[in-house]
Amino acid sequence: MKKTILFLVLGAIMSSGAFTTFAQTDIDQKVEALMSQMTLREKLGQMNQVSGGAELSGMAAKGEVGSILNCADPAQINAVQRAAMEKSRLRIPILASRDVIHGFRTIFPIPLGQAATFDPAIVEKGARIAAVEATASGIRWTFSPMLDISRDPRWGRVAEGAGEDPYLDVQMGIAMVKGYQGEDLSDPTAMAACMKHFVGYGAAEGGRDYNSTMISERSLRNTYFPAFKAAADAGAATLMTSFNEIDGVPSTGNKWLLKDVLRDEWGWNGMVVTDWNSAGEMIAHGFSRDLKHTAEQAVNAGVDMDMMSFGFISHLEELVAEGKVSEAEIDRAVRNILKLKFELGLFENPYVDEKLSEKVDYAPEHLEAAKQCAVESAVLLKNNKNVLPLDKAKTILVTGPLADAPYEQLGTWVFDGEREHTVTPLAALRNEYNVIWEPGLKYSRDNNTSSFAKVRKAAAKADAVVVFVGEESILSGEAHSLSNLDLQGAQSELIAEVAKAGKPIVAVVMAGRPLTIERDLANCDAMLYSFHPGTMGGPAIADLLKGKAVPSGKLPMTFLRDAGQAPFYYNHNNTGRPCNGSETLLNDIPIAAGQTSLGCTSYYLDTGYGPLFPFGYGLSYTTFKYGTPVVENAELERDGVLRVSVELKNTGKYEATEVVQLYVQDKVGSVVRPVKELKGFQRVTLAPGQVRNVMFELPVSELAFWNFDMEYVVEPGDFNIWVAGDSASGSPVGFIVK
Ligand code: NOJ
Repeated sequence: MKKTILFLVLGAIMSSGAFTTFAQTDIDQKVEALMSQMTLREKLGQMNQVSGGAELSGMAAKGEVGSILNCADPAQINAVQRAAMEKSRLRIPILASRDVIHGFRTIFPIPLGQAATFDPAIVEKGARIAAVEATASGIRWTFSPMLDISRDPRWGRVAEGAGEDPYLDVQMGIAMVKGYQGEDLSDPTAMAACMKHFVGYGAAEGGRDYNSTMISERSLRNTYFPAFKAAADAGAATLMTSFNEIDGVPSTGNKWLLKDVLRDEWGWNGMVVTDWNSAGEMIAHGFSRDLKHTAEQAVNAGVDMDMMSFGFISHLEELVAEGKVSEAEIDRAVRNILKLKFELGLFENPYVDEKLSEKVDYAPEHLEAAKQCAVESAVLLKNNKNVLPLDKAKTILVTGPLADAPYEQLGTWVFDGEREHTVTPLAALRNEYNVIWEPGLKYSRDNNTSSFAKVRKAAAKADAVVVFVGEESILSGEAHSLSNLDLQGAQSELIAEVAKAGKPIVAVVMAGRPLTIERDLANCDAMLYSFHPGTMGGPAIADLLKGKAVPSGKLPMTFLRDAGQAPFYYNHNNTGRPCNGSETLLNDIPIAAGQTSLGCTSYYLDTGYGPLFPFGYGLSYTTFKYGTPVVENAELERDGVLRVSVELKNTGKYEATEVVQLYVQDKVGSVVRPVKELKGFQRVTLAPGQVRNVMFELPVSELAFWNFDMEYVVEPGDFNIWVAGDSASGSPVGFIVK
């Protein structure tokens, strides 16, 4: 009793911000001191995350909610906070969270587009800006970065991650964690990051969201874990479990993942939250009998906080009484939650200045960075006869459903981005050209071709045509899987129609995923793939089209010729019958041909083997010439550092940036190794005619993998190395690890 009174006094002083000695003691001690005062019910309240705003004040006053999500109104966040800080017994602050995925108000390109920049610095800056804006509205925890490896563009959530490659995923993940969290979590502009979705969610069978996955432990370790491990090492404060099951065990109830790997092996000491009702969904999986059982399984597996299943708050008291969940498990969870709240400085500064966001949102430097990121994320896929840049054209026809669609260009997860602040390509191009504007179609799924004749007529009056096609925002993201990846509606027909005018045709594709655009490519002279480029997509694209900026983006996912090729990724293991490039295709097969007439290698009869564009691909307005890579030390010890350089020359007319990529192949392993793996990249800017020797230093330790014996080792032997402009170019040079 005495202790309780003492704590109440301390809590009251702390919340007034006047108490210093206590605030200076170590966070762990503060957590223990607070926990010693808490009832079991209060502990369960901390483990409960609920969606809503001011209406949750009653729960907060009773200490029944630890975190809220889905509220971005600072006044409402303050209202709930006041209930917690002034009315609840122990005055534990609420942690406000939100999906701030690629910007808060100033929306940056979707994460997949950000990955196409191959520029961790701009990605970190984007995350910092997102944190500055979101924290100004009271949000101190974001559910980002999504670190899921995505190798199947049918999965709508490919938009939210860095694509198919573990190395790029690692670099982008670290950049985002650093950006969100800043130097120190206690800084009021710091927002706790959340690595998600642990794990393998992107490997949903058939690319269908929420579907089951079958991933071997080795594949988890070699491919799906690295970005989580790297983000954990970079200090990511929280982690979210995934919806999927792996080999029969839902992640939210997977003790091996959440305790053995995450805690014991990696030594990570952050906080684990479920995905939205992913604990409750273990009933539908057939893994739990009822909600009570889900709470038992999730907490015992290592989950700390329950997002929206209400199983923890409803059943854990009983479960503890029955001895099915120990108090030690509850304490572990609460300790992790309180530690984060102390680290964020919420006890000292629980409230947000309700006027702050007005000063911070859409600051000019935020818009400038968003534009820069959109410029860098656009990938030039085709540029026949150098029709781009359109620096000579005076009058252009702008057409297509995405040219003036301020909401659609923002992409998925943009709760807080506002269309009034979005600059569309149409608006931006009007500053550069005489623009004739004929939308042709109203939205991407529109099949009404009745205004096509008007569009074609308008094309006749223009020097060039720019057609903006792609996907509305709602077509990618969570729960938006597609089995057909062609342009929706009559968009392909629109491109074909304007092509008839005989004017240079530039297609700009704004989409949340790699679409199958082979037939559209054939009907245009140039194609720029901008993903969903965000608030400043318009000015970025206008600069690129006009030649004020030069494309430098590279594909973070393989582009397919047909959705039937999925999943397809460059860093696959080899088969025993790799395709040798001499495929016999459907129409090459004689009628009544015998079985032996086929090539009997690994490819499709209709699409052949190769993709439309390989991972890492992207053109520029200039051309780059790569020399042969020179390995300085071709025989290395396992603790050595490989030094390889390549001469890069800008052989064209524009100053431009090239993403120089380093790939390695471990030729023979105790288990089959990928045909190639990205191990480094550099953005190199060269003036016309300029030559630079680009040097990579690769520690041999980075060639380690989980081998036959499930040990993380570098196996000695022969390796190949490529330094090239994409994953399918260049010639290998050998080196040996002894
Ligand atoms: C479900 C999504 O899977 C997850 O990514 C998101 O953070 C939560 N909902 C919260 O909105």
